[in-house]
Amino acid sequence: MKGIILAGGNGTRLQPLTFTSSKQLAPVYDKPMIYYPLSVLMLAGIQDILIITRPSDLPAFQALLGDGHQLGLSIDYATQGEPRGIADAFLVGEDHIRGEQCALALGDNLFHGANLPTLLRRTALKMGGCVLFGHEVADPERFGVAEIDSLGALVSIEEKPRQPRSNLAIPGIYFFDAQVTDIARDLEPSPRGELEITDLLRVYLKMGTAELVWLGRGVTWLDTGTHESLLEAGTFVRDTQRRQGIRLACIEEIAMHMGYIDPDDCHALGARMGNSPYGDYVMERARLCKAGMLPPLPLEAL
Ligand code: G1P
Repeated sequence: MKGIILAGGNGTRLQPLTFTSSKQLAPVYDKPMIYYPLSVLMLAGIQDILIITRPSDLPAFQALLGDGHQLGLSIDYATQGEPRGIADAFLVGEDHIRGEQCALALGDNLFHGANLPTLLRRTALKMGGCVLFGHEVADPERFGVAEIDSLGALVSIEEKPRQPRSNLAIPGIYFFDAQVTDIARDLEPSPRGELEITDLLRVYLKMGTAELVWLGRGVTWLDTGTHESLLEAGTFVRDTQRRQGIRLACIEEIAMHMGYIDPDDCHALGARMGNSPYGDYVMERARLCKAGMLPPLPLEAL
């Protein structure tokens, strides 16, 4: 399965932060925002990843992540000149997908939760059609919204409805089968001129092949579209990390856990970060892993 991270857009709601740098490179406490969606794809078992950015931001992403080999990944890049909507990612990424299944992660969505790796891996392995997730929120009008019937079946999908039919928001991680590029090509731009992800999902819903998976209470989902939510996300990461003594979205540790790199490689990546607390953590996790003292990721329930 291929992965795409959409890290384009002008981040207008975060200006002036985003005049000279991508929103998805903004710090979320101790690491660039893109580490979070990248972690999600890695935890889903996806190693072949395309990052879509604004042309002006491309060098910075390349400097940060390179071709991904240091993490046991293959990372390619493509650019999106104008923000043409989330579903446009499948047209920009057509060569990357090459008729395979594909997961799309929005570059500004953060997820955290013990059962997330299992949920993602299970979804990636057993997928047909498309899979979208549902998460209960207090302000569904800010998001794509899924409506379900009394049996829990998905009945409607709407983009930022004024009067949401449910409180089930659709977070920015989606799985699609190989038809996605053809379907995206046939979409009409919405009144705001964009190819909407919800329109794409609705095509699958009409075909009867859209599956809704509840993220459940054990998963935290945060978006970072405003100054307030960016700060909240950073505070959440800091508090969780401080409380548990672990780091969220530590891509070096995840690469080691997933077996993409070995503990020596992981240690070397930590050492390259000098004596930053993040680098220290990466080296310590590598040492623990080598000594067989790291708990495995909860993938055994597959
Ligand atoms: C986009 C999607 C929306 C989704 C949200 C998740 O909205 O259009 O369906 O629920 O991402 O973050 P945006 O945040 O780009 O306004």
